[in-house]
Amino acid sequence: MQQVMNIAELRARLASVRSVAFVPTMGNLHEGHIDLVRQAREHAECVVVSVFVNPLQFGPSEDFDHYPRTLAEDCAKLEGLADFVFAPTVSEMYPLQQTVFIEPPPIANELCGAARAGHFRGMATVVLKLLNIVQPQVALFGKKDYQQLHIIQQMVTQMNLPIRIVGGETVRAADGLALSSRNQYLTVQQRAESVFLQQTLSKARQAILEGERNFALIEEASVDALAQRGWHVEYVSVRGQAALSLPNPNESALVILAAARLGATRLIDNVEVFL
Ligand code: PAF
Repeated sequence: MQQVMNIAELRARLASVRSVAFVPTMGNLHEGHIDLVRQAREHAECVVVSVFVNPLQFGPSEDFDHYPRTLAEDCAKLEGLADFVFAPTVSEMYPLQQTVFIEPPPIANELCGAARAGHFRGMATVVLKLLNIVQPQVALFGKKDYQQLHIIQQMVTQMNLPIRIVGGETVRAADGLALSSRNQYLTVQQRAESVFLQQTLSKARQAILEGERNFALIEEASVDALAQRGWHVEYVSVRGQAALSLPNPNESALVILAAARLGATRLIDNVEVFL
């Protein structure tokens, strides 16, 4: 496995490669990322993983400065799994002030976008840059960031990029907590409590499977259950999988998404529901 910091060098090395599968990450890799990297191998002869903490997708009061940067450990984890780790500096990715952006679809202002203005614009912009640099045939993203995956799928389709986007299932700890680099911010007590987010979503899913169709009621009950235990809930929302819009009565593929804070740590999760 080779570590490359430079765009020109990566392009030169990939020039003779027939097919590339790409896993973009912000590093601090956990089993959720590694699962995507393993899947990537099934799609192409060459697997590229990027490690780049993208300043454009962090708000001014978010954790950009403190986001865990663990490149040496990440490279050790990728040994034998990836062919290239692309780990550019901020100035390599943004040699000029970035004044051209991807304007994401309106859904980017809802759900996670409601509390994170500009987040999906910055995310989509760096993902497009990375896709242009790596030029893969396949790119893989985790379903834990469900809204992110949806926006990337829309961008790739609407911008006619010849890239297949694959969504990987969320990898969970034994107790059900979705793996995330931000889980390490949790105190021992918060880590024990954190599993309640996934349990709340599972309960909401069960209610829908048992026939409840008043989604507003389900959302309200979920928010209340979390709030009573000290969570600061941003949203719990039942949406159609296809457009992430409010489900129409005939929609059979739903997803329940949530974002909530335990102390200063913001957790997100979702569960799919097939009727
Ligand atoms: O999901 C992430 O880690 C990031 O949002 C991504 C897709 C690597 C873009 O910075």
